[in-house]
Amino acid sequence: MGVEKLRKVKLGNYPTPLEKMDNMTKLLGKGDLYIKRDDTTGPAFGGNKTRKLEYLIREAIDTGCTAVLTVGGTQTNHGRTTVGAAVKYGLKPILVLSGKDTGYLSGNLNLDAMMGADIYFVSDPSKQKEVIADVCKKYEEQGDKVYVIPGGGSNPVGAVGYIMSVKEILDQMKEQDIKIDHLICTVGSMGTFGGMILGAKYFNAPFDVIAVPVSPAPKGDKEKRVADFVNKVSETYDMGITITPEEVKIAYGPDDAPYSGERYNKPDPITREAIITLAMNEGIFLDPTYTGKTFRAFLDLVKEGDLVKEGETALFLHTGGAMALWTKEHLDDMQDQLRANCKTTQL
Ligand SMILES: Cc1ncc(COP(=O)(O)O)c(C=O)c1O
Repeated sequence: MGVEKLRKVKLGNYPTPLEKMDNMTKLLGKGDLYIKRDDTTGPAFGGNKTRKLEYLIREAIDTGCTAVLTVGGTQTNHGRTTVGAAVKYGLKPILVLSGKDTGYLSGNLNLDAMMGADIYFVSDPSKQKEVIADVCKKYEEQGDKVYVIPGGGSNPVGAVGYIMSVKEILDQMKEQDIKIDHLICTVGSMGTFGGMILGAKYFNAPFDVIAVPVSPAPKGDKEKRVADFVNKVSETYDMGITITPEEVKIAYGPDDAPYSGERYNKPDPITREAIITLAMNEGIFLDPTYTGKTFRAFLDLVKEGDLVKEGETALFLHTGGAMALWTKEHLDDMQDQLRANCKTTQL
């Protein structure tokens, strides 16, 4: 069946805004800078997972499932959105999270708990597969049928959400009479980036799609994995598109201070500086694990002229996740930078 005809449930509010960042455009003085607000999709504070979950939850319902299980780190945004989507459609939400239960629920965990998720913490990541099988068995013995969603919702079904988001952007470009030359997004589990690459080719978008990794990766490896993913999705839906690793554009940043930071979810002051810049100029909040890193790259690539040439337009895809700003570890780590950024007066 053609990718455009695939059925989905309704979760998000679309189109998400595509807006010019007037102050950032003025501040950088290079081309026109836009933002696509996929952080506003909803439900459960939304983010990029909503578009994927619309197709995944449809499949869960169509296959008679009564529970949805997904995996991720303890602060997974994908997990939180999945719980919200499951709750909305009357499915039991189950999370299998790699990490320890610290005894304190903050950030996404706070919200997962509020929505009534069953949460399993797995201390040893090598045991995750085993745990998923055991947890599924437990629920199935109780009469549930469990739909398992892979990390980040990144399989061919989930990727359709981002293939189709390109069509939404093209419609908005037409309405606003603008041309986007470059789109920059984050790459983690690949569904967003892979879907956008495929959508850009499928719908003949005039922009290239560039991604920033969320953790350090050897150059070449990620490009190959993204190309394999894109080709698999294309084959699944008979889209007739194949790409090579050489066509996959990833921005790594300087060797001594890569955009990905030291590792996944490790707070770092350069990323926080980018987060503060967008907050101070546009009143928009990013997150320290994904979009902050990508926005730092966006600013760098625009300033250095590697991304935006004279008269060009660049679009930053905001994929959500700002709840991570309220996790205990990020709050603790941010205090000095926040104090230096504002004036506080005790009267
Ligand atoms: C806020 C946010 N942005 C970007 C990503 C990366 O998207 P993907 O996993 O589709 O590569 C994630 C993944 O969890 C995320 O939570």
